Amino acid sequence: MSRLRAACALGALAFLFVTVHLGTAQAQKTMAGTDFVIDSVHQEDVLKLGHQAYNRYCVGCHGEKGDGKGPAARWLFPKPRDFTTAVFKFRTTPSGALPTDEDLVRTITEGVHGTSMPNWRLVPELERKAMAQYIKTFSTVWGEKARRAPPLNIPHPPANLKSADFVKMGRTVYRTVRCDLCHGKTGGGDGSSSGAMKDDWGEPIAVANFQRGVLRGGRTPQDLYRAIATGFSGTPMPGFSESLKPERIWQMVSYIRHLIKNEGDPTPDDLLDQCVVWDNCEEATAEAQSPTAQGTTPSEENK
Ligand code: HEC
Ligand code: HEC
Repeated sequence: MSRLRAACALGALAFLFVTVHLGTAQAQKTMAGTDFVIDSVHQEDVLKLGHQAYNRYCVGCHGEKGDGKGPAARWLFPKPRDFTTAVFKFRTTPSGALPTDEDLVRTITEGVHGTSMPNWRLVPELERKAMAQYIKTFSTVWGEKARRAPPLNIPHPPANLKSADFVKMGRTVYRTVRCDLCHGKTGGGDGSSSGAMKDDWGEPIAVANFQRGVLRGGRTPQDLYRAIATGFSGTPMPGFSESLKPERIWQMVSYIRHLIKNEGDPTPDDLLDQCVVWDNCEEATAEAQSPTAQGTTPSEENK
């Protein structure tokens, strides 16, 4: 690619987020369900840039054809995503729908915690955005209207997210909705239905363990809300946006954050009545477990 063309491609990408439709007769083409508009003249350059970056950074795991069968894949668990099926776990869109461009860019930027998928924060943003476009060329599903859906609105966390009442309500909802069947009574990933599960790609899959605190979709309150509301397509994790009100979802987020905070404690649930507010938990846990433990351990930031 000549310098000029490369510059054009970068310019086009820079425009993606602030694109104003110029009133020209030029054909405009939407490449994703909900987001960026790229005019057809620049589309080729964007995909070229994405292709180059993909071949540099991603091909070893996700494979040249995007089928998740790169040379490193045989040693990895979970397996790298097969982009030819166009099934995506990490989305703001409803279960089963295609992700938005922003979803793809977020996953590429942040990586997937607890798996071999690295974060790519050091790769220039334009290349990350171009790779998100390039990934879509691996499946024709991206052309199907039926698989597109607008993203769900993820509201701001309520002010009382950390309150004792909220954590307790969260525990009640968690058990009433039967999250415990898979995630276990105290979030250890050991519920009665948790054994021998497979994902849609036929690979064994483990239920998330909230006590370990390593969460694939991220561990901020918003990340947890998104996971519960939209589910992880291709896995047994359903989406609950249709069946539960936002307040109920936030309550469970609160409870799960409480379980994470007690990381490593075998019975965090029993401590719930002693340390219902996240910030107090570390001290209460230390006291309960070892009378000599210092209560001054620097507590991990609540993100
Ligand atoms: C070292 C191996 C490895 C490399 C390199 C790698 N990935 Fe991944 N990637 C994975 C694995 C493993 C997963 C699956 C994680 C899971 O299923 O929880 C994944 C998942 C993803 C997903 C998530 C899709 C979804 O389900 O929502 C996207 C998008 C993705 N990778 C894009 C990329 C891009 C773009 C690059 C290059 C910049 C890249 N990956 C490089 C291993 C890798
Ligand atoms: C049928 C079993 C099942 C049920 C029921 C279920 N989950 Fe899950 N959940 C899973 C599996 C399996 C995963 C892990 C998916 C993965 O790692 O790709 C998961 C993942 C999650 C995650 C994301 C964890 C991460 O790594 O980012 C959250 C949060 C979560 N579940 C919360 C809930 C809540 C809250 C409920 C009840 C409202 C619930 N789940 C019900 C099976 C289930």
